Amino acid sequence: MVLVAPSLLAADLGNLQAQVDLIEQAGADWLHFDIMDGHFVPNLSFGADFVRQLRKHSKLFFDVHIMVENPLDFIPMFYDSGADMVTFHYEATDDIHTVIDNLKSHNLKAGISIKPNTSPDVLIPFCDKIDNILIMTVEPGFGGQSFMVNQLDKIRRTVKIIGNRNITLEVDGGINIQTGKDCINAGANVLVAGSAIFKADNPQQVIEQLHNLRRE
Ligand code: DX5
Ligand code: ZN
Repeated sequence: MVLVAPSLLAADLGNLQAQVDLIEQAGADWLHFDIMDGHFVPNLSFGADFVRQLRKHSKLFFDVHIMVENPLDFIPMFYDSGADMVTFHYEATDDIHTVIDNLKSHNLKAGISIKPNTSPDVLIPFCDKIDNILIMTVEPGFGGQSFMVNQLDKIRRTVKIIGNRNITLEVDGGINIQTGKDCINAGANVLVAGSAIFKADNPQQVIEQLHNLRRE
């Protein structure tokens, strides 16, 4: 099954409730929050309080992607935010095990994300304790960039690394119907899409089309 995770970064934030209702009614599975600190990535976005405020207005699974240096400095802010899962960056800390354990001890699902130049093999030591792997298919920091085709091999390799473990394989950056299909064929099962959904004339239709993609 393909899960669709619209990224709020591309939403009309002046109309947030309407945007969230729209994607929820269209059958989106996860709501993807891009949290940026201006250090790990050269951009700022929103923080834990934004997630907390939205929790009152949505029943979706809250998929929080933190693009921050030293994730342990920020993670406590998310404990009671209503986040369901926090995915942090492999490149942002030297102490991956501690970050995972910290999330788990607060009943949060834990994911690790890797940037385009990071090999998925670095994730092997952590696979027995994580719930999600997020492959960045653009350099993190901004929505609306073009999908990096050279990440497809990494997706295929990650499928092998995951094996039969219960870990979702999420892709993020430049995902649309075509690149989403390529990612599904490579073995991904969660599609994050910002621009392709929120900038479309008919976001519901795009969500349905992404949902209906099947591995060929
Ligand atoms: C980039 C973010 C992505 C981004 C995707 O740093 O992690 O989630 O919002 O946006 P699109 O789908 O527009 O590439
Ligand atoms: Zn993201």
